[in-house]
Amino acid sequence: MIVRPVAEGVEVLAPAKLNLFLEILGKRPDGYHELESLMVAVDLYDTLTFADDATGAITFRCDDPSLPTGRDNLVVKAAEVLRADAGCDRGASIALRKAIPAQAGLAGGSSDAAATLVALDRLWDLKTPPGRLSELAGSIGSDVAFFLNGPAAVCRGRGERVEGVPLTGALHFVLLCPPIGLSTVAVYRHVTVPERPRPIGPVVQALAVGGTEALGASLFNRLQPAAEVLEPALSRVRDALSERVGPSLDGSLMSGSGSAYFGLARDRTAAEDAARQLDTLGLGRVRVVTCGP
Ligand code: C5P
Repeated sequence: MIVRPVAEGVEVLAPAKLNLFLEILGKRPDGYHELESLMVAVDLYDTLTFADDATGAITFRCDDPSLPTGRDNLVVKAAEVLRADAGCDRGASIALRKAIPAQAGLAGGSSDAAATLVALDRLWDLKTPPGRLSELAGSIGSDVAFFLNGPAAVCRGRGERVEGVPLTGALHFVLLCPPIGLSTVAVYRHVTVPERPRPIGPVVQALAVGGTEALGASLFNRLQPAAEVLEPALSRVRDALSERVGPSLDGSLMSGSGSAYFGLARDRTAAEDAARQLDTLGLGRVRVVTCGP
């Protein structure tokens, strides 16, 4: 997350995330799934601006008309949760420019919510302790707290227990977003809880050591088969990454609950090479993205 002061107040660049690993450990009594995931933030950003509103109103506008602008939007929810927790009566005018596709497993809405917590905490001069901000993030959505940490972290529980992990260098990816939206709820409903969960250790170790070969070989997402059953067209995206551009990449995977897929490349040139090849297939929007230390 990149936060900077602007004339109106505060501007935040809110990054997308990729899951390099996601395993389900079990189903919880509250209906959520206990999970273990390695997430990284990448340089595909939504842009939010926040201005103080002396009337005390929280107003929100977004350049994507398909998104809700009321409390159904995590930005509005985050603003209200923070304000109630602080017991303050300040207002804000919030504008969101979307670049992160929705229903793609990239957690754009969660990142926007985290950006809202950080920006309004600053704009309203609340000085909320970091631990409290994380708790509020966890109450808004499972992925929100990750974005308060980043750029790389192991997430546990519902996803809200976040432990930062060091990055040894930049990671370069090719990202393919097919024009298919997947409901997170539906994907989790179709997932099979494994009898023997795959351990997260090897992928965390590979990230710590650096290089992309071992990391690419340990990419894993338990939600991917469930998403591909729900949307069989996704298997073409998977095969394009693993077979058509496989030689340019060290591994590929679906992110989160989908529908975006990514390939891990050894360097920027290899990622751009894979992007050029993928672009010719017409399967969706292709980008090169980076996770920097
Ligand atoms: O927490 P969030 O609102 O992002 O979760 C969306 C949905 O995804 C939940 O309602 C639940 O169905 C599913 N989910 C889950 N286990 C998790 C995270 C999300 O079952 N750890």
